[in-house]
Amino acid sequence: MNIVLLGPPGAGKGTQAKKIVQEYSIPHISTGDIFRKNIAEQTPLGKKAKEYIDQGLLVPDELTIDIVKDRLMQEDCKTGFLLDGFPRTVFQAEALDLFLKELDKAIECSLLIEVPRENILVRMTGRRMCKNCGASYHVTFNPPKVEGKCDLCEGPLVQRKDDTEATVKERLKVYDEQTQPLIDYYAAQNKLIEIDGTQDIDVVFDKAKDVLKRFE
Ligand code: AP5
Ligand code: MG
Ligand code: ZN
Repeated sequence: MNIVLLGPPGAGKGTQAKKIVQEYSIPHISTGDIFRKNIAEQTPLGKKAKEYIDQGLLVPDELTIDIVKDRLMQEDCKTGFLLDGFPRTVFQAEALDLFLKELDKAIECSLLIEVPRENILVRMTGRRMCKNCGASYHVTFNPPKVEGKCDLCEGPLVQRKDDTEATVKERLKVYDEQTQPLIDYYAAQNKLIEIDGTQDIDVVFDKAKDVLKRFE
C-alpha cells in the first residue's frame, strides 16, 4: 500500500502514522522527522533546513524532493510506504507522481485528517516529541506511560522548537496557501479520503484502518 497522509499541522498525522505502520509493516517516511534528525546531527542539509523550519516556512522543493526519492528507492519500500508531511506543494506531488510512474508504482490513497483550527493550537503547545524516534505525545490528550519517556523506545521527550504560538500561526498560513491545494489535486485523481481527526486517537485509528483495508 502506497499512502500519503495529508492534513494541517497538529492534525495527528504523526500520531496515526506510528500506528498505521505498525499495523501494516510498512515504513513511515516523515520529511519533518528527516529534517529534525539532520538538524540534530548538524549536517549541511540540517543547517539549511533549520533556517526555514524555525520560521514555520517550507523547506525549498529542491532540497526536499530528492530526499524522498532516495528514501523510496530503498528495499523496505518495495511492498509499500506511508508518506507523512510529503508532498506539501503541488510541485512536490507532481514530482512524486512522475517518479513513482518510472518505478511502475502510484499513490493509492491520500488520507486527509481534518481538524478545525480551534483544536490545533492546544494540541501543538501541549505536544511532546520523542527525540529518538519522533513519536508524538500530549501532556493532556496522550501522556506517555512514564513522564518524560517515550513508550516505544524510552527516548527523552522534548518540545519542538516550532511549536510556539507565533510559529504555529505561520505554519497554518503556509498550509492554507501551499498545501491545501493538494486536497483538490488528490480529489481530482479520485484518491482523496477524508477522516474526522477530532475524535480520540484510537477512534481515528479505527477509521483509518477501515479506509486502508481496501488497499491491503
Ligand atoms: P512536520 O514535522 O511535518 O510538521 P507538520 O506538518 O506541521 O505537522 P506536525 O508534525 O506538527 O503535526 P502532526 O499532524 O504530525 O500531529 P501530531 O500527530 O504530532 O514539518 C515540520 C516542518 O518541516 C515544516 O514546517 C517545514 O518547515 C518542514 N517540512 C516538512 N516536510 C516538508 C516538505 N515536504 N516540504 C517542505 N518543508 C517540509 O499531533 C499533534 C499533537 O496532538 C500531539 O501532541 C498529539 O499527541 C496530539 N493529538 C494527536 N491526535 C490527537 C487526537 N485525536 N486527539 C487529541 N490529541 C491528539
Ligand atoms: Mg508530524
Ligand atoms: Zn521514541
